[in-house]
Amino acid sequence: MTEISASAPGKFVILGEHAVVYGKPAIALAIDRRFYMTVKRDDEFKINGEAADLKANPHMRYIIGRNDMISVSVQMDSKIPTGSGLGSSAALSVAFSAAIRALSGKSLKEAEVAEEAFEAEYFSQGRGSPMDTSASAHGHGIALNVSGKEDDRLWDISKNEHTWNISKIEVPAMTFVIGYTGIRAATGPLVEKVRKYKDSNRFALDIINEIGQITLEGMDALRTNNVVELGELMTKDHKLLSILGVSSNELNKLVNASLPYAYGAKLTGAGGGGSIVALTDQPNKVCDAIASRGGVPFIVKTGVEGMNVSKKE
Ligand code: MEV
Repeated sequence: MTEISASAPGKFVILGEHAVVYGKPAIALAIDRRFYMTVKRDDEFKINGEAADLKANPHMRYIIGRNDMISVSVQMDSKIPTGSGLGSSAALSVAFSAAIRALSGKSLKEAEVAEEAFEAEYFSQGRGSPMDTSASAHGHGIALNVSGKEDDRLWDISKNEHTWNISKIEVPAMTFVIGYTGIRAATGPLVEKVRKYKDSNRFALDIINEIGQITLEGMDALRTNNVVELGELMTKDHKLLSILGVSSNELNKLVNASLPYAYGAKLTGAGGGGSIVALTDQPNKVCDAIASRGGVPFIVKTGVEGMNVSKKE
């Protein structure tokens, strides 16, 4: 019986989360923590050997619905903590879309998997941007809505009134440390919180525009390998995200603990709980500082491959 193995990486956002939902620029890098699964046809839907309810797994339900309703069993294992802001749900959607498409004999183009996985995320959360699924499908680094060389252009994804142009970027040889608060936070409610703020207060739109501007400056800093400038922009972005209401005491504590040893630090992903990311050349000191404030630190490797699919007959 045909068995498909698929994996996809998590990611962190250097700059631009939340504002990207409104079509502003953002930059994300894939990391060396992945979601792994094997998928084969079966009489009923199973996860890790147990019969499972598709309704309780909306991402998977959407993907199966788009691919002839095939019935499968899935064995899965994730090295990306759930709700950590590191793209675990996008990585699950990308790996599952790739696996189901492989089983159904459909195209495995990264662009198509990124789009299908984004639609699955949207179906589940009712909101968001294609940043996480694009970073997970392509791996390495991506920028959204940033003009650059035509050769770097990967794909465009549109939804409602927004279109996101996704391009690949050179992944710089920089050291990033993640600090996980240990607090799980679902993306949907945080995106909704920002939307409500934006709809009720003109000031929130100014903040969103400023995050977009900072991200464009961050692209220049990345291109010129200017860690000092990039770090300052990250810290500034954290302050703007705090004003938008998506930081927390735990995230602020980890950012402040990292800053004496880092070029910059910020929450990454949706916020609420989840993780911070620090840009540093003293990773061990940042790790100690994060651990001393109750966070779970790890140094991430970037420049990793995106989705990976293999078939065993
Ligand atoms: C979550 O990793 C990033 C957000 O901007 C949501 C999204 O882009 O879908 C908060």
